[in-house]
Amino acid sequence: MKKCRIVALLSQKGGAGKTTVTMQLAAGLARRGLEVGVADLDPQESALRWADSAPEDHPFPAKVAAFGGDAKEIAAALKAFSKPLDILLLDCPPSIEHSHTLTALESADLGLVPVVPSPPDLWSARAVERLILQRMGSKGRLKGAMLPNRVQRTALAGNVLEVMREFTLPVLNASLSQRNAYAQSAVIGASVYELGKAAEASQLEVDWLVDAVMELLGRGS
Ligand SMILES: Nc1ncnc2c1ncn2[C@@H]1O[C@H](COP(=O)(O)OP(=O)(O)O)[C@@H](O)[C@H]1O
Ligand SMILES: [Mg+2]
Repeated sequence: MKKCRIVALLSQKGGAGKTTVTMQLAAGLARRGLEVGVADLDPQESALRWADSAPEDHPFPAKVAAFGGDAKEIAAALKAFSKPLDILLLDCPPSIEHSHTLTALESADLGLVPVVPSPPDLWSARAVERLILQRMGSKGRLKGAMLPNRVQRTALAGNVLEVMREFTLPVLNASLSQRNAYAQSAVIGASVYELGKAAEASQLEVDWLVDAVMELLGRGS
């Protein structure tokens, strides 16, 4: 079996969509037949609660577990957790100064930064970009990308997306729009794929997200 690939979801603020993207991406990857895990590194444990909301007869399609402790303990636990997996997603705390975020970047092959297209989110994305670029400088295999999330068709969002393209980190070839389905699926411990035809637009967006992530990881479908 191929080595497990690790994707860290990071941002400098809460609310950027780390947990939402983590869980939808996990479900989309699992639909491709991959063995997927989610490590909840945020002390708020939202990913764990999301998975725990699933009914017993319809569990969330990825293994979700919370991890705590010091950097060394977490790194060792992640290594053991990732062994049977094809892909492990790391849902990080909402701060790049948090030691868990730094530990996650150390383990990751890809740092993915969800960015809501608004000026304040853009400014904090700069700080995350700096951190990833710095780590990329000392760790050859690390890649980084930004993922527009909660995108709306407004002139402001369009302008912000243009500015994002001037960053050094690439903007991922995918984005998630502002859609109720993303929040709604959390309530039932599922992903947008379980919401049926009404959520078709979000299912397509997650499909594209999966394609873009697999491509960056060098596992194009
Ligand atoms: N694309 C989206 N469309 C609609 N709501 C979203 C979207 N992404 C995130 N949200 C909502 O925004 C809030 C914050 O998202 P969350 O994933 O918890 O962010 P983070 O983990 O970065 O703090 C949640 O209420 C979530 O349901
Ligand atoms: Mg979160």
